[in-house]
Amino acid sequence: MKLEKIRVCNLEEPMGFAMDAPVFSWTVEGAAGKQQRWASLTITAAGESVYESGETADADSLGWQVRLPLKARTRYDFTLTVCADDGGKACASGFFETGKRDEAWSAQWISPKIQKNSALLRKSFRAEESDRPARLYLCGLGLYEAYLNGEKIGDEYLAPGYHAYDFHLGVQTYDVSGLLHRGENQLVIALGEGWFKGRLGFDGGYTDLYGDRLYAIAELWQGNTLLTVTDESWEELRSPVTSANIYDGETWDARLSPELLGPAEAAAPTGCGPLQDRVNLPVKEMDRLPVRELIRTPGGDTILDFGQNLTGWVQFTARLPEGGRLSLTAGEILQDGEFYNENYRTAVSTFTYLSDGTQREVRPHFSFFGFRYMKLVCDCPVRAEDFSAVHLRSAMPQTARLETGSEPVNRLFQNALWGMKDNFLEVPTDCPQRDERLGWTGDAQAISETACQALYMPAFYRKYLWDLRAEQSVLGGSVPNVVPRIKRDMIGESGSCPWADAGVIIPWNTWRYYGNRALLQESYPGMKAWVDFQRKREEAIEGPHLVKDGFHFADWLALDNPQPGPFGATDPLFIASAYYCRCAQIVAESGRILGLPEAGEYEALSRDILAALREKYFDGSGLCRIPTQTAAALSIVFGLSPDAKAQGDALNRLVEANDSHLNTGFVGTPVLCPALSQTGHHDTAVSILLQEDFPSWLYSVKLGATTIWERWNSVLPDGHMNPEGMNSLNHYTYGSIAGWMISWLCGLRPMEPGYRRAILEPRPDRRLGHARAELETAAGRFVSAWRCEGDSIHYDFTVPFGASAELRLPGEAPWELSAGKHRFTGNCPQTGGRE
Ligand code: BGC
Repeated sequence: MKLEKIRVCNLEEPMGFAMDAPVFSWTVEGAAGKQQRWASLTITAAGESVYESGETADADSLGWQVRLPLKARTRYDFTLTVCADDGGKACASGFFETGKRDEAWSAQWISPKIQKNSALLRKSFRAEESDRPARLYLCGLGLYEAYLNGEKIGDEYLAPGYHAYDFHLGVQTYDVSGLLHRGENQLVIALGEGWFKGRLGFDGGYTDLYGDRLYAIAELWQGNTLLTVTDESWEELRSPVTSANIYDGETWDARLSPELLGPAEAAAPTGCGPLQDRVNLPVKEMDRLPVRELIRTPGGDTILDFGQNLTGWVQFTARLPEGGRLSLTAGEILQDGEFYNENYRTAVSTFTYLSDGTQREVRPHFSFFGFRYMKLVCDCPVRAEDFSAVHLRSAMPQTARLETGSEPVNRLFQNALWGMKDNFLEVPTDCPQRDERLGWTGDAQAISETACQALYMPAFYRKYLWDLRAEQSVLGGSVPNVVPRIKRDMIGESGSCPWADAGVIIPWNTWRYYGNRALLQESYPGMKAWVDFQRKREEAIEGPHLVKDGFHFADWLALDNPQPGPFGATDPLFIASAYYCRCAQIVAESGRILGLPEAGEYEALSRDILAALREKYFDGSGLCRIPTQTAAALSIVFGLSPDAKAQGDALNRLVEANDSHLNTGFVGTPVLCPALSQTGHHDTAVSILLQEDFPSWLYSVKLGATTIWERWNSVLPDGHMNPEGMNSLNHYTYGSIAGWMISWLCGLRPMEPGYRRAILEPRPDRRLGHARAELETAAGRFVSAWRCEGDSIHYDFTVPFGASAELRLPGEAPWELSAGKHRFTGNCPQTGGRE
């Protein structure tokens, strides 16, 4: 028996992350017992005991919050012991460490005087010892990388990340013990523009959004000795990065020696929030891919194909003579065998390196790219094996694996996974390649349920929701369409359904999938504020509780509207009211979970909205009057239809009338297959999944997609990009089908938050032959698998320690499964039997 995934505030051994009280979570593997009898926790700081829980029966492995006054810059070591119901025990140790918390800074903000867009700041200092632990507390704006004695500090990139800088400035804490020398040391901070001051936003975008210069603040401590701080004694050096921003890439001229330009200036950013221990996950290298093919195009270009559309950059070994130049320009697809990236719009996306003749490893510093291909321009010969694609994302691990008997479906699952991985860099972005890469709330909420199954999301969402609530605080509770908000006119708007509903849906999905009460509590004020905002607005207009006005993206990019353009046919006010109802219901349920007296008020509001919705949008037989797949599916999944079964039959008819093809957009797509599976039409859901012609998921797979596209037909059957424009080949919303594969095809769903109790309701289908999902849930590792063999079907399940499941097999009464492995054999159902 052993303890795994031991986390403090959703992080493994966190150092310098914002926390009020530590919340411990863990899973148990390899136990002979089935349930936890008790757990105990001891915490020490500098060898002194600061907390002893004793053996506690109600220690919740999904989130055990410990009340303990935390000190700044302190390492806390803990030992967690878990005892099972059979007397078996497991024990593990770990640590968490605080950052500066509210300790005053001895350092001053400094800024380069001469260089505005990238700079190096340097300081030499002495250390009397090298073997005592040392920590660097640092924030650099826009982006920074820090080096101690020539070595890069830490394994994260693009720090301090992208957040609402006007509300808070995240401070990183680094363990620099191994890099410090006894005697003379040199600390260098390299700065670039990033999201803070570089170009951001489409149609040309804006610059200097949060500031018009670069800044840094740092303190380097060894034990209780302050070794160095940023102040006017720092020097400004010439930077080899001659230009860099998020969209356009970077130019690195290695011939420019870091010559001294003069002293740095004491200057602090204005209009920014206070320094605060970080909330964001670090961005790290999470994967690395070699060149799959070096292509020479008919037009004479050289292209590196990495075989996968991904987010990150290319690293290479430079072997160029002095003055040699090498540039790499990103693209997602070839057109007629030639390089193409017009879909990046104004984002230049080029990394250029100018050599000083030294052989070295080269990569960008202050930019990232969305790409499968890189057009290589170089005045000397190169070797493909010198290049690799580095996948960067916020460092959350993958938690889901799934395989079926269909190769194209397996590829689709992988594409959906990549779509999420590629768009979870600092904020949940719409896409990683063109001149947007923004935290669009609608895309983020649409994928959030699937994301909570596929990746370990709590820390990432905690940060996004932190920023979202900060933005709400100046919008009277409304939620912007993009978080962090782009401050000026263009996309400063808020309150569009179902973009703004992210403020309620994301924390709720996070609660359902991880059962982390502390996070729900932290998110609750923002959830409530959005519903209150909606209520105030709709009550200002006469009539029942419904959304009555406003601009709503609604079923964005659906295909059912005879009017050309990106808007779907489903009435946006119906969709907005449906979400209003669902959000009020969620606030009521959250209030109840948190023991708040106002829960009843929101319950009553949601009932009123539901009654008004039924009155206005449903007919006498309880069917939604709007004849679209999206309206019918939403009515089922949100529980709006008084007769879900009849509504399911109506949805099925709509799909059959459309030749078993979908025509849904951002709202309808995530709910379409769940609504069918839920109402006895799982067969039809599988039929939609298996379509290969437009519009369908496998259409893109058949055309060679390695990620999910923005439009159902971003690429036309002849391989050309859709001339309508707005074609990202890496948008994740339609990847929500991966969530349905886990929840319905394999039938694994949380019955209680965090999968402490799960539903196992696999839906075998001969067309797929077999399916197997394996999920590292908050409660532990679940497996749900089925395999059709002749007339038989074999099932395999794993339920983790501390959890239980309700098994629902076709034609059988529900059956209780406790922790452990379970195998069953049954008759292969005739449903789904169409070959
Ligand atoms: C983005 C979307 C976003 C939308 C808002 C697009 O440009 O890429 O995914 O949600 O605008 O309508």
